[in-house]
Amino acid sequence: MEKTAELILDGKSYKLPIIEGSEGERSVDISSLRNQTGYITLDDGYGNTGSCQSQITFIDGEQGILRYRGIPIEELAEKSTFIEVAHLLIFGKLPNSAELRRFSDLLTANELLNEAVKYHFEGFPPNAHPMAILSAMINASSCFFPELLTSEMRDSFVVQAARLLSKVRTIAAFAYRKSRGLPAIYPKPDLKYTANFLHMMFSIPYQDYDLKPEVVKALDLIFLLHADHEQNCSTATVRMVASSRANLFASAAAGVCALWGPLHGGANQAVLEMLEEIHKSGDDGSKFIAAAKDKNSGKRLMGFGHRVYKNYDPRAKIIKKACDDVLTKLHISDPLLDIAKHLEDAVLRDSYFVERKLYPNVDFYSGIIMRAIGIPVEMFTVMFAIGRMPGWIANYKEVMETPTRIYRPRQIYTGPTLNHYTEIKDRK
Ligand code: ACO
Repeated sequence: MEKTAELILDGKSYKLPIIEGSEGERSVDISSLRNQTGYITLDDGYGNTGSCQSQITFIDGEQGILRYRGIPIEELAEKSTFIEVAHLLIFGKLPNSAELRRFSDLLTANELLNEAVKYHFEGFPPNAHPMAILSAMINASSCFFPELLTSEMRDSFVVQAARLLSKVRTIAAFAYRKSRGLPAIYPKPDLKYTANFLHMMFSIPYQDYDLKPEVVKALDLIFLLHADHEQNCSTATVRMVASSRANLFASAAAGVCALWGPLHGGANQAVLEMLEEIHKSGDDGSKFIAAAKDKNSGKRLMGFGHRVYKNYDPRAKIIKKACDDVLTKLHISDPLLDIAKHLEDAVLRDSYFVERKLYPNVDFYSGIIMRAIGIPVEMFTVMFAIGRMPGWIANYKEVMETPTRIYRPRQIYTGPTLNHYTEIKDRK
């Protein structure tokens, strides 16, 4: 028998279907509520709103579980690579050898930017934030694929996905080179995804960057851990834009803008700036913790708290260990890591944070690894965007393949009631 919820409004009873997910999460389907009752639901910040049904990523925030297509993040972090995981997310399965080869070949075939795109980089001022460049250039790149703007797709989705995934890495590296006044370094077809990115970031025309395996592995892990995270702010943005049938590049560019904010992907940059501020002030973090607890200070402990995780973010556990490993292998001793660990210890014993279930999130340690491998702070959120690209592509594909109406939330209007136009001479 179909399960239903009963809603009593103005003395009248309504039956609403219960929809259950494959992991047992339950929802009340209110899609006919307004038609039936004239009421809508109000959910500021969407904390209780399921905006879609999705088969891509599962999170249990109470238990600290994250799975891509059912596979625990811990297993993927140990055994897989970013590109395998991208295939898993976008196409629903780990690639077999032939599929992986084809996908890698497509990434290589699409790694170059049209030469004309390079001129666009010239227009940005020297200190332009790379997230602004990234978003603008992803959008601009779509102009070179006019078929994206028609409903007649000449290329299969795998080609479109590989094109975006591959080009975004080239755009990101060129954006960094531009911001430093350095010449652009072209990709090398014999390098794998993450190694190729590091080559474009750090080689110089007369000397190739020394690709240390532990550095490549650490950055690949960061990309992998960021690859998807169900309906977060940027992914929900991508789905929102996709629902208007905008093209893949335009939808991803919107995702970049949403990710940029300091409460979302911008937090990794904010964490490092916070740790540097603590280090410079000579404080052990206690003053910053006190300020973060004071609502009037306008400060928050960056890298702590999460809308969904009310337990340790499983990605933070993996990154914390990777951070220790990579710093040891590179023989780097970073005082910011000591401050971070001290902060974590202090916070996990502090009733303010314990009561609110505020634990370290993925951004807390990732910045220290990126700093150790030479990624500049202003590029941190760009690293997140490269990593999140497979998740955005997978969600875009899901929207396109599911019969969905354009996303269009309602609101409860609280502004002035009927008012009339005043001539300018009569205005106060
Ligand atoms: N420092 C201090 N207090 C905090 C923090 C924090 N980092 N995070 C939440 N709180 C407090 C809030 O002030 C609030 O307290 P109150 O109940 O006394 O008013 C309570 O905890 C709940 O916080 P909300 O803001 O309602 O939680 P929400 O789910 O909306 O926010 C968010 C989640 C944005 C991640 C928040 O925890 C935050 O700002 N963290 C710092 C920024 C950060 O690290 N963002 C990265 C998130 S992960 C990601 O995007 C990949």
